[in-house]
Amino acid sequence: SSRVAWFEHDKFGLFIHWGLYSIAGGYWDGRRVPGAGEWIMKRGQIPVARYERLAAQFNPRAFDADAWAQLAVDSGMKYVVITAKHHEGFALFASKASRYNSVDATPFHRDIVGELAAACRRHGLRFGVYYSQAQDWHEPGGAGNDWDFPADAVKARDGSFDAYLRTKSEPQVRELLTNYGPLALLWFDTPLMMAGARAHRFVELVRTLQPGCLIDGRLGEAGDYRSMRDNAIPDHVEPGPWEVPATLNNTWGYRRDDVNWKSPGRLVFNLVDVVSKGGNYLLNVGPTGDGVIPTTCQDSLRAVGRWLHENGAAIYGAGPSPFGEEFGESSRTLRDRNGAPVFLPFKGWRCTTKPGRLFITVFEMEHVGQQGYVVFPAFRNQITAVYALADPKHTPLDVKTTADGRRYIAPLRQGTNPLGTVYVVEYAGGRLER
Ligand code: GLC
Repeated sequence: SSRVAWFEHDKFGLFIHWGLYSIAGGYWDGRRVPGAGEWIMKRGQIPVARYERLAAQFNPRAFDADAWAQLAVDSGMKYVVITAKHHEGFALFASKASRYNSVDATPFHRDIVGELAAACRRHGLRFGVYYSQAQDWHEPGGAGNDWDFPADAVKARDGSFDAYLRTKSEPQVRELLTNYGPLALLWFDTPLMMAGARAHRFVELVRTLQPGCLIDGRLGEAGDYRSMRDNAIPDHVEPGPWEVPATLNNTWGYRRDDVNWKSPGRLVFNLVDVVSKGGNYLLNVGPTGDGVIPTTCQDSLRAVGRWLHENGAAIYGAGPSPFGEEFGESSRTLRDRNGAPVFLPFKGWRCTTKPGRLFITVFEMEHVGQQGYVVFPAFRNQITAVYALADPKHTPLDVKTTADGRRYIAPLRQGTNPLGTVYVVEYAGGRLER
């Protein structure tokens, strides 16, 4: 079976952005620094000499790897990816390549990556790490810091960027692939100046040390799956495997002022929407500097978990929609700033599939037909059963046929789920014939 088979089955993962930026929480010297929390050093043009003092404050008393792993399990997530080193350059693991890490440079003296890897293993979760291979605002040769050091173009020419890759980035990726057991995936990000041989050296590292470990789509060379842009869910089915990294609010790293949380209903819709287009949903939490995942995040994720407990068969191991018209349509009048027609998404229902079965998840009854019934695109196969997935008795539901031969499901009178009701349509012939 291919390296990526588990990824295509599991669909749903937990992303964790945690670092020194989590202590700052979006504010520096009492001033609000706008933008994603994990970018505060760059957005605030904070000198290394001042920013690195945060390491002495890193002492997250509330950090509990088992609690984080349990939250992922409760949420129906199957893999966990944590920022082992983000653009700020601070590593959450013991490293001989740089003392700027949670073991050597903090009063905490603990290896976060090691503790979380062990907790995930105990909880039956696959474990992966995010590693910013090019950007490193703590190092003279790292990409991205042009307020303490020269511009990136200079670093690419004068050999300091390549020296950074050889002395910190590659050695730390080697440490991650050597010291923490089997990694499910390496999540590289912002491939600045990573063309050609620079990226390929990381591919060699991963393939040599852990052939089973997946490479994401942001290394700078094709990996094992495509990474969509942040929070960017495609309008239509995309050939897989691919993954959308997504935030619960508007920042990856903790911001004390960003409480713009997505509702459980929005999260379930996004998950089903992504799977119905053939992808994975990697949903992020940003723990505080103390190691606390905000309660609202936990509550929302557990609500998604309860939905998956009842309806997971429509998600895990499910394939994309055979239809497509349910996603929406291009506007005939509205144009975006490039003059392209604006896509108007339809959010009434989505369809995921397994051989001989359609899982039709209905989100808002009023959108699916004035009479409030679920109309789906015509297909020729004989329908052999229709029932609500959450109904343990699989009580047969009425399938009605319109004059022009289209069939539709009369909705449940009771037992619908406000987060989304899944109807199973079983049909003869294994393959859908339109
Ligand atoms: C973007 C952000 C980075 C974040 C990543 C997550 O690259 O710049 O901070 O880690 O998205 O997808």
